[in-house]
Amino acid sequence: MVARLQDIKAPIAQDLIQFEKHFKESLNSHVPLLNKISYYLVKRKGKQVRPLFVFLTAKLLHGINDKTHTAASLIELLHTATLVHDDVVDDSHMRRGFFSINALWKNKIAVLVGDFLLSRGFLLAIDKGHFDLLKILSVAVKKMSEGELLQLEKARKLDIDESVYFDIIRSKTASLIAASTSSGAASVTDDKEVREKCWDLGEKIGMAFQIKDDLFDYGEQEIGKPRGIDIKEKKMTLPLIYTLQQLPLGQRKQIINIIKRQSDNPVKVREIISLVKEKQGLQYAEEIMNQYHKEALDILNTFPANESNEALQQLIDFVILRRK
Ligand code: IPE
Ligand code: IPE
Ligand code: MG
Ligand code: MG
Repeated sequence: MVARLQDIKAPIAQDLIQFEKHFKESLNSHVPLLNKISYYLVKRKGKQVRPLFVFLTAKLLHGINDKTHTAASLIELLHTATLVHDDVVDDSHMRRGFFSINALWKNKIAVLVGDFLLSRGFLLAIDKGHFDLLKILSVAVKKMSEGELLQLEKARKLDIDESVYFDIIRSKTASLIAASTSSGAASVTDDKEVREKCWDLGEKIGMAFQIKDDLFDYGEQEIGKPRGIDIKEKKMTLPLIYTLQQLPLGQRKQIINIIKRQSDNPVKVREIISLVKEKQGLQYAEEIMNQYHKEALDILNTFPANESNEALQQLIDFVILRRK
């Protein structure tokens, strides 16, 4: 049975309260508009799975300390920044069940708010002199930008294949979850091998996480953000890539042409979604997601069995079984 997120959070409830306080305080500014938007962002918080990965990895190896807290706040700030920017890039007007920042305040402001969040995150590490955290997170942000740009390039050319898809999601999503587990480790150990193993663990989790997110886009259930938007934005994800592989060349070209010229027609988008379902594209993506899930658990199993190991297992299960 899948554990509820609130149950996974329960053993570190005190740390999460402190985290939320720290996160909120780090957004303070002398600019009233920024404070208004920060207030909105804090109120509309997300699932907070990345800070949870930071805390649980630190606890798995040793115990949560002040540096773990810096890492957790830093990562959630960067995550929030990338979501604010991503909604501009994807022209998406809904986030966490409400209007996105760009929907409410327009792109100009959203771009600058994202930059503010990003710099606030990095400053947390600099102020404490944690340059190893700064390095881990700078690598992740570099990869995220590259992943989003590669995705945009492929949305123009529409020539994406599976290996490029994996490259994109490893860069744009898995890197930040890898940075979460790795910086959790870095907060409690200098051991390079352990830090790297934790990066690999987070990377596997992150791959499963994005495949799940891409499946939501084809789903029926309400997830607090738009669905069907990936095809609309000419983003070809695993279910569609697999489906196209099954088709004879002529039909494949026909579908790609529809995506190229008519992706803003909801009827056409629905037709493609139906085709993906008919060709078992969702099942295929689920299988690949389950493989990453298993690979993550295999890495986790090489760590000592303790209460935090158990909680991490539950969180990794949550990644693929979650409803939003
Ligand atoms: C959304 O991440 C962005 C992706 C990488 C798919 P989350 O699903 O963790 O977003 P929140 O923070 O819970 O809203
Ligand atoms: C993840 O991709 C975006 C980032 C890594 C910032 P998506 O564009 O699919 O994420 P959602 O669906 O908007 O949350
Ligand atoms: Mg998006
Ligand atoms: Mg998505």
